[in-house]
Amino acid sequence: MTGKPTAYRFKNMRKTAIVATAWTGAIAALGLSAHSLRADHALRCERCMAEDAYFLQQAPVGDRFDLSKVNLSYMTQGYGSPHVNESVDGHPLTIAKTVYATGVGTHAVSTLMINLNKTVSSFHALVGVDDETNGKGAVVFQVWADGHLKYTSGVMRAGDPAKPVDVDLTGVKSVALLVNAGAAGIDFDHADWADAYFTLTPNHDGLPQAASVPVEPPRMVVPPINPLPEIHGAPIVGATPHYPFLFRVPATGIGPLHYHAKGLPAGLKINSSTGIISGSLPHNGRWDVTLLVNGKRGHTQRRLVIVGGRHKLALTPPMGWNSWNVWAGAVDQQKMLASAQAMISSGLAAHGYQYVNIDDTWEGPRNKAGFITTNHKFPNMKQLGDDIHQLGLKFGIYSSPGPTTCAGYPASYRHELQDAESYASWGVDYLKYDWCSYQGVAVGTGTEYYALPYWIMRKSLDSVNRDILFSFCQYGMGDVWKWGARAGGNCWRTTGDINDSWGSLIGIINAQAPIGQYNGPGHWNDPDMLVVGDVGWGHPHPSHLTPNEQLTHISMWCMFSAPLLVGCDMTNLSPFTKAILTNDEVLAIDQDPMGKTAKRVVYNPQEQVWVRPLADGSHAVALMNTGFQPLKVTATWKQLGLSGHLKARDLWLHKNVGTHMRAIGYVVPPHGVVLLKLWR
Ligand code: GAL
Repeated sequence: MTGKPTAYRFKNMRKTAIVATAWTGAIAALGLSAHSLRADHALRCERCMAEDAYFLQQAPVGDRFDLSKVNLSYMTQGYGSPHVNESVDGHPLTIAKTVYATGVGTHAVSTLMINLNKTVSSFHALVGVDDETNGKGAVVFQVWADGHLKYTSGVMRAGDPAKPVDVDLTGVKSVALLVNAGAAGIDFDHADWADAYFTLTPNHDGLPQAASVPVEPPRMVVPPINPLPEIHGAPIVGATPHYPFLFRVPATGIGPLHYHAKGLPAGLKINSSTGIISGSLPHNGRWDVTLLVNGKRGHTQRRLVIVGGRHKLALTPPMGWNSWNVWAGAVDQQKMLASAQAMISSGLAAHGYQYVNIDDTWEGPRNKAGFITTNHKFPNMKQLGDDIHQLGLKFGIYSSPGPTTCAGYPASYRHELQDAESYASWGVDYLKYDWCSYQGVAVGTGTEYYALPYWIMRKSLDSVNRDILFSFCQYGMGDVWKWGARAGGNCWRTTGDINDSWGSLIGIINAQAPIGQYNGPGHWNDPDMLVVGDVGWGHPHPSHLTPNEQLTHISMWCMFSAPLLVGCDMTNLSPFTKAILTNDEVLAIDQDPMGKTAKRVVYNPQEQVWVRPLADGSHAVALMNTGFQPLKVTATWKQLGLSGHLKARDLWLHKNVGTHMRAIGYVVPPHGVVLLKLWR
């Protein structure tokens, strides 16, 4: 019998402890000793262990062991869950009109690692896109054996006949089955491993057993808290003259902190004990303000550029929190207020987070005059807005251009202006506008079909006396990045919904590669809200992403200049979650005022390298390991488009790492990242 997955994971942790000597000491600060990591994972996986025991009793038929007999809860995928003998949407497995009785239906990006421990001699399957996509979708199937690529299908499109997979696995310890996207994005990438089975070796001792990616200590350190004051967050903010202006200066250091500002335009004032700047701008213009913060141990100053004009919001990507990924329909007014208060008490606001956004399920019926009301969970929306503003934070809300929201609540169709007026009267600063039921009433063709409902709401928002950041949510349809800014969007979702699995994360990361050039100050690609911390759409649990996957998530969102909307329970942040959300060096990449998004310069199934230029002339570089084993990932200056002697700093280790001449490379943990800054 093969070892239990937990034993496997422990073994791998011991192995990487050697690689990790430089930083393991400091992870104690996170409450994440190797021991607690193990315990945490074991707890999360109590269910998997019970399942493993069940799956180990599965008897093989002769020397054939069906893929569907391994514990598929270890399979991660970009959408839905793996189905046994069915497609991902629950239909008979069908590739190019041929129906298969057995196999596994999944969705790109899909990964499954299976420990064979020499119980198996080969793997067989027939692979293809399931017919249920009606001609859409493109995928690539791959089989990796002990870290070596043994089979690749090449790009397979819907309708292509199934391709046979026959891989010799003699002597192989572990095999990884991958399905990657075959084109940009993962929409409709329904992938079938049909008639998939292993051939067991004679007298095999044990059976193939699924495993998760090795859980290793996160490659990071938490620096000791700096007692000296420091100012963080957006270096530039904008607002419409004469509309309410609100900005809470994000600052850390041993307090009490006292705030001052030199060069504020007439009409704005700063509260010296809270750092909240309020009032309104007198006219269009640009002001170079010097923020000054005095603390118990010293003082600091930093420049803040304030821009006055129409449509000057989101000059850097918005940072804040949204209720959906943790609460979904269980959100209510009290939870919103508690989250806003926690944004202050946890310290997140001191690092630049400022929006507190309700997602779906707040809506009540329309009144006789046609204005939207709130349901019983939100007894007083205006009060909630006031409470959030009182803290110096901003208030966000959600609706849909269709008759109903995704969750079936009344939405804005043919009430757009009335809704904009209600939002303004409640003090709303941010609107997420989610396509959903608009599908049933959409008109027009081409770009107009997609853009019209957003344009109508843009006009409605423009006719109220309040700045409301406009966030499109329509999952990237019609290449929204090409026209979103013209239709008045400050950001737009680029993909379907994120979930806390590697399959989802890597699928979304890959989808950003071809669209980075559409980003810029005032208009951003939105790869969706964060899934670190306790998430769960109404049933909170610690994120299923491993610690290193979470580092990759935050690093890459910052490389993408993505909106950073925390999606977890704000009132219950673990030291680790707080640490990864408040690394100022990393957040500064996201908030870089130049807003030039990262380009991918190395891409293969095991590694990716991304680079982005920053306003100060330096470059941020991400070395990602997308494989199952620790891997040395190297980027050459040629690949990065750089030259000469460059100094380097490791942003998660908070450490300068020398001067480099032609290349830089590090051992990166599985599904982890090394995030660097390079400068001359
Ligand atoms: C989805 C959207 C999610 C969430 C949900 C609410 O369409 O992508 O982020 O807003 O609707 O019903």
